[in-house]
Amino acid sequence: MKYTPPLQNIPADIVCLDDYQRYAKDFLAHDIYEYIAAGAADEYTLNRNRSAFANIELKPRLLRSFSTASTQTTLLGHDLAHPFLLAPLGYQQLCHASGELATAIAADAMDTAMIVSTLATASLEDIAAQTDAPKWFQLYFQPQRRDTSALLARVEAAGYSAIVVTVDAPLSGLRNRAQRAGFQIPPEIEAVNISPSQGTPAPTLKGQNSILQQLMAPAPQWQDLAWLKKQTTLPIIIKGVINPDDAVQLADMGMDAIIVSNHGGRCLDGLPASIDALPAIRDALGADFPILLDSGIRRGSDIIKAIALGANAVLIGRPQAFALAVAGALGVAHMLRLLKEELEITMALCGCPHIADINRDCIFTPR
Ligand code: FNR
Repeated sequence: MKYTPPLQNIPADIVCLDDYQRYAKDFLAHDIYEYIAAGAADEYTLNRNRSAFANIELKPRLLRSFSTASTQTTLLGHDLAHPFLLAPLGYQQLCHASGELATAIAADAMDTAMIVSTLATASLEDIAAQTDAPKWFQLYFQPQRRDTSALLARVEAAGYSAIVVTVDAPLSGLRNRAQRAGFQIPPEIEAVNISPSQGTPAPTLKGQNSILQQLMAPAPQWQDLAWLKKQTTLPIIIKGVINPDDAVQLADMGMDAIIVSNHGGRCLDGLPASIDALPAIRDALGADFPILLDSGIRRGSDIIKAIALGANAVLIGRPQAFALAVAGALGVAHMLRLLKEELEITMALCGCPHIADINRDCIFTPR
């Protein structure tokens, strides 16, 4: 496996998040780069995640006071220094030998909330010990409830303050680019918080409906969320919502927040961009229900557009993997700082001194 050691200094020509992707191509083995960068199938959804942001136009107000300006916001009882979090990304040792531990160091340095994946390659306790910023745990339901319960007990004991349940990836999407590159998780890269027997079973292609019947058999259903709610007092956030009807059903059953997401275009190709799905979901849930959004956030201006259309905060996915590959913890911290600076500059130029000032009046109505 090709390995390029991470940089100790950040090159002067890395000035925005996409620059990390440009560099990461040279740092990562081709198949790993394709695994991270790829979307499902024809990548219609992956591409929409960016083009949709490009099609939204900002509508600034001029000459306002910034004497008390701040990016600070509150979400589920947490004070966040800024309205963006690190999305759960599994298998981070693919990018850097320290994997999630390096990401957590960066999260701490930049006071950024981190969502740790069930598929992390470091122990969830060790990751938690690296950062004093808020930590949430992303849960993939395990085939046996007792294994899910055991994982939850560890998560609570380690000081995580919310559970993010991902429901849009009951099986892996077909990422043709990664398939063509021959990507497979190398045997030394392990999801150490779950035992191998708890992982997703390999697909068998014997029967016509083998995927539907076998791979979907352990997939969570509505009653599993009801069960989970009884197992923990932590807030539960459901990740992967695109349909307003699901959003309403989740709110009605007492879930604490949702993440509008198409999994970065990695699962079901043909979905709309998350940002295009957001307004209808905000309208369906009303003004007060906490909504996060991910998929395609690369710029401070994207964050403003997402908040304007109804999000309370956003998650950053692939850029953390690319920054991790290029420069480890330093890279991830730098990537977060670039985003924070872009957010502040865009808030200033839009005439929004506070996150609460960002609303639908900050963008032009689509033509
Ligand atoms: C992911 N994502 C993801 N989501 C999740 O709930 N659990 C996981 O383990 C992972 N793992 C993962 C690995 C890699 C390499 C990628 C690129 C993505 C999805 C992730 O949390 C997020 O939804 C998207 O990455 C957001 O889109 P952007 O920011 O990458 O465009």
